[in-house]
Amino acid sequence: MVKPREALSVLPHRRAGEKMQTIACVNFKGGSAKTTTCLYLAQYLAMSGFRVLAVDLDPQASLSAMLGLQPEFDLKEGDTIFGAIRYENDRRPVRDCIRKTYFDGLDLIPGNLELMEFEHETPRALALSSRLPGGMFFERVGNALAEIEADYDIVVVDCPPQLGYLTLGALCAATALLITIHPQMVDVASMSQFLLMASDLMTVVRKAGGDLRHDFIRYVVTRHEPHDGPQSQVVALLRNLFGEEVLAASAWKSTAIADAGLTKQSLYELERGAIGRATYDRAIESLEAVNSEILGLILRTWGRVP
Ligand SMILES: Nc1ncnc2c1ncn2[C@@H]1O[C@H](COP(=O)(O)OP(=O)(O)OP(=O)(O)O)[C@@H](O)[C@H]1O
Ligand SMILES: [Mg+2]
Repeated sequence: MVKPREALSVLPHRRAGEKMQTIACVNFKGGSAKTTTCLYLAQYLAMSGFRVLAVDLDPQASLSAMLGLQPEFDLKEGDTIFGAIRYENDRRPVRDCIRKTYFDGLDLIPGNLELMEFEHETPRALALSSRLPGGMFFERVGNALAEIEADYDIVVVDCPPQLGYLTLGALCAATALLITIHPQMVDVASMSQFLLMASDLMTVVRKAGGDLRHDFIRYVVTRHEPHDGPQSQVVALLRNLFGEEVLAASAWKSTAIADAGLTKQSLYELERGAIGRATYDRAIESLEAVNSEILGLILRTWGRVP
């Protein structure tokens, strides 16, 4: 088991009346650091003493790989959440898809290519009937996660870089959204397309009865180079447009984060001395600033902080 780098303040588990928070990381722009954001958030929350479940909804399965799996070898059919949300009768309880990670307090529902089947099966299921056991396509992820509501405080969902049926399911299951954004003009343009499309689709889903209320939605600036002029302009534009909806902290671009990713590790797992101390500390500091701000928002939804 990985020990926390240093004792983060240990908070008690969710109390009676505090609902499980499901936080989905979305944006169809590939490489906007969704998976990295999910990984560090999930590990940070687990180290803070919460019972955390990470859900990999991406057929690319990068989050599962970062958490120590070889998604194409270590999984049998039905081991991803697809096993619990498929339309056929051999659906399994979502609990059977959960596995422990080597990280204390952090469990995982892994992903792999099998998840693509949900994208293919959904149009067929829609054509056959509008009412299916397990719910409409946009309710299925949420319904599956509701089965394990008593076991976890926080669920972190890594979405694929597309606005498919799985992502729509995650948007409905989520109680909060994080939209990751790399501060470059092309990425902002792409995000704006994503938001427009998401808003159109969400209107359709809402009309069909989908629950799309979120306790909070925040933009997270990722791979941020604070000394880069054009990036600063883009961040200023985002803050102008979205105000407090952009997290005050941003995840700084760091070779430490990129290098740790190459060996499918997080910074919390590296041996001390594997990278320069100053580089390591700067990277951890910026990630923890982001994650503590998100934790603050979660605690606010539970009414623990004003
Ligand atoms: N703060 C950072 N500093 C440096 N590199 C980073 C940082 N955050 C992410 N990266 C690197 O950027 C790349 C893309 O990140 P990541 O896989 O998290 O993005 P993603 O949005 O999940 O991508 P996809 O859309 O393909 O799922 C990875 O190689 C990752 O290691
Ligand atoms: Mg990813």
